Formats: sequence, C-alpha cells, structure tokens
Amino acid sequence: MSTWANLGLQDSASPLMEQLIFFHDHALLILVMITVLVGYLMFMLFFNSYINRFLLHGQLIEMIWTILPAIILLFIALPSLRLLYLLDEINEPSVTLKSIGHQWYWSYEYSDFNNIEFDSYMIPTNELATDGFRLLDVDNRVILPMNSQIRILVTAADVIHSWTIPALGVKVDGTPGRLNQTNFFINRPGLFYGQCSEICGANHSFMPIVIESVPVNYFIKWIS
Ligand code: CUA
Repeated sequence: MSTWANLGLQDSASPLMEQLIFFHDHALLILVMITVLVGYLMFMLFFNSYINRFLLHGQLIEMIWTILPAIILLFIALPSLRLLYLLDEINEPSVTLKSIGHQWYWSYEYSDFNNIEFDSYMIPTNELATDGFRLLDVDNRVILPMNSQIRILVTAADVIHSWTIPALGVKVDGTPGRLNQTNFFINRPGLFYGQCSEICGANHSFMPIVIESVPVNYFIKWIS
C-alpha cells in the first residue's frame, strides 16, 4: 500500500503492474529528454542576435523538426499499445471473482465454489482497531490465492463505480447493466489495498477494497 511521502507508484505485486511501471519509467525518460532539449533551446533564445536579414524559409530543418517528433512519439505509442493488449489478455483463470459496486460498498461473489457471497464495508474510524488503516480497512476482505491467474468480473448495482488496486495494476469500471472483465496474477502473499475510483456519490471515498493474498492451500481451506 501507499504510505507517507510515497509520491510515485506503489511496488508492484503482479506482472502486469511491473510492465506498467516499466512503461511509466520509459515514457518519463523520453519526457525528461524533450524537456531538457526544449528548455535549452528556449534559454538560448535570450542570447540570439538577428544576423540573417534575408532568411525566409528552411526546407531541411522544417522536415527534420516535423518528422523527428513523430518518430519519438512512435517510441511511446508502440510500447503503449503492446501494454494495452497485454492487459486485456486472459490466461485460463483458475478462480473467478465477481465484484459488484453499490452505493457505498462492494459485494463479492465466488461463483466457482458453492456460490459464496458477502458484502465488504469500510470500517468506520471510531470502530477501527489500533493497527487498522483509517478509510482503508474493510470488515470482510477478498481472499485470493497467490501464484494463480484470477479473473475479475466487475459490475455495479446503482451508479458507476471503479474497482481499483494500484499494486496489482487493476482498474476496471463497474457499470450498471454491464459486466467488465479483467485478470491478474498476484506474485506474493500480503494485503493489497484499493479504492473506488469513479466519483459515485457522497461516500465515494469510503468504499475501499482489501485483497488478502494467501497460498493456494490456505485459499482452498478458506473456501471449503
Ligand atoms: Cu464507488 Cu466511487
């Protein structure tokens, strides 16, 4: 989870989030190079002296500074498309979890195993345990097995919500009347916190998500 003064991305807990961080760093590096170059050119303009009275055009330089940025953009666009399609890939999931957004809590269904269903509410600050995280902990966590492909189906009952877990690189809108799908793979045990990220009404900030990632045999024990 994100803690104090953590301004960047959270540590990844899934291969997809790892790829997202790689792409973020790649794009940022290109951005820094462009900013430094343009900054240098703009600074140098202050020391310009007008020496060429008859300069009207420059075909070559215009060609260069049109095509070069287009090529640089390709270096961002192609990895971005690769990542976009990678995020959409479904790899034979072993568990399917359905999460339904409500105003203002999430409810979950494990339809693979005798239809387990439960609601997951935020724990109010006055009922919070001393080691609990304010506005982030819930009464019923989502238990999921680590090291296995998990499919998430997201929908909503009233307005649009968004099921978002930064450390796993998951962000899917839950829309009434639709069923959105995504998948991920958690590569370590632990707690992963998330929040709704569609402005869904007065208590939008108070419908967090907690995933408890456990070894597969623990998960099977829990589910049965
Ligand atoms: Cu649900 Cu914001």
